[in-house]
Amino acid sequence: MKGIDWIEGKIKFIDQTRLPGEEVFLELDDYRGVVTAIKEMKVRGAVTISIAAAYGIALGAQSIKAESKEAFIRQLSQLCQTFSATRPTAVNLFRAIERLSRLAQAADNISQIKASLINEARKIQAEEERATERLSKLGAELIEDGFTILTHCNTGTLAVGGYGTALGVIKAAREQRKRVNVIAAETRPLLQGARLTTWELTRENIPVTLITDSMAGYFMNRGKVNCVILGADRIAANGDVANKIGTYTLAVLAMENGIPFYVAAPTSTIDLSISSGAEMPIEERDPEEVTHIQGVPIAPEGVNAANPAFDITPHLYVTAIITEKGIIKEPYELRLKKVMQT
Ligand code: MRU
Repeated sequence: MKGIDWIEGKIKFIDQTRLPGEEVFLELDDYRGVVTAIKEMKVRGAVTISIAAAYGIALGAQSIKAESKEAFIRQLSQLCQTFSATRPTAVNLFRAIERLSRLAQAADNISQIKASLINEARKIQAEEERATERLSKLGAELIEDGFTILTHCNTGTLAVGGYGTALGVIKAAREQRKRVNVIAAETRPLLQGARLTTWELTRENIPVTLITDSMAGYFMNRGKVNCVILGADRIAANGDVANKIGTYTLAVLAMENGIPFYVAAPTSTIDLSISSGAEMPIEERDPEEVTHIQGVPIAPEGVNAANPAFDITPHLYVTAIITEKGIIKEPYELRLKKVMQT
């Protein structure tokens, strides 16, 4: 299964809000549909968002009508702006947009820009596929036969379009014939762990046990977890990690219980322009995602609710960051910089 694809001028992906109940594929030929799909998380996960946006911009660019390259670029940058305003935390989105904008500036004429944007979006997807496959293989070396791995949110094919980040590492360990068990935290409020991670792992025949987020400490304290692996949406220059809300809690619990805490992410998730987690933009989503579960109210009408979608895990809690260019440990500042130069 491919999480997302470009087929004959259309962007095709599975609607992640309908999983696991229904496997509905969307085929979009209007960039506005892609913008909405990203905002509504029909397509989600740091890497998949960037690929969807890249294809969405390439798609939107095809119907820009302009007389000159300058006029075209002006409209294209508005289009890029629209995609930039979808989801602020995952840096992969902004990196992809930057790549497309730079390419457009360098091209000679409008038809060259239109063609090169599609090619570049394809290239971004192919590069991410290679990167996540490679990091998964490298990360699998950290997994021993018989390990039980706790993970959070969804970091598989759905989230990256390719192999996966944390789930990729788990899949690769399994391909190396290691026996692994996964504990998937449900990931309130939108339940990516319960709905998507268990769906992906079941399809791969990897044993998984679903828990509520608040059960994690119980299992760690009872010695039932050998390591925690999860993904990232943005990694600052000092190694601080933005990831799905609840990640920080898991990191603190892992340290308290002496359990290794690994972050798996391609280098496109590393943002050296941000020195620490304090500068990371955290997406605030509709409080209704907290007061309702799949449209059903679970709290009194009108109650105040907060909904930060991500949190920051300080680097001191991170045992290692698994990238396609190697497994990085402290001192993060120095080593992340080095990795980004290679
Ligand atoms: O809000 P989401 O579901 O898009 O958040 C996704 C995550 O936080 C993932 O853990 C992260 O993107 C890493 S996997 C590429």
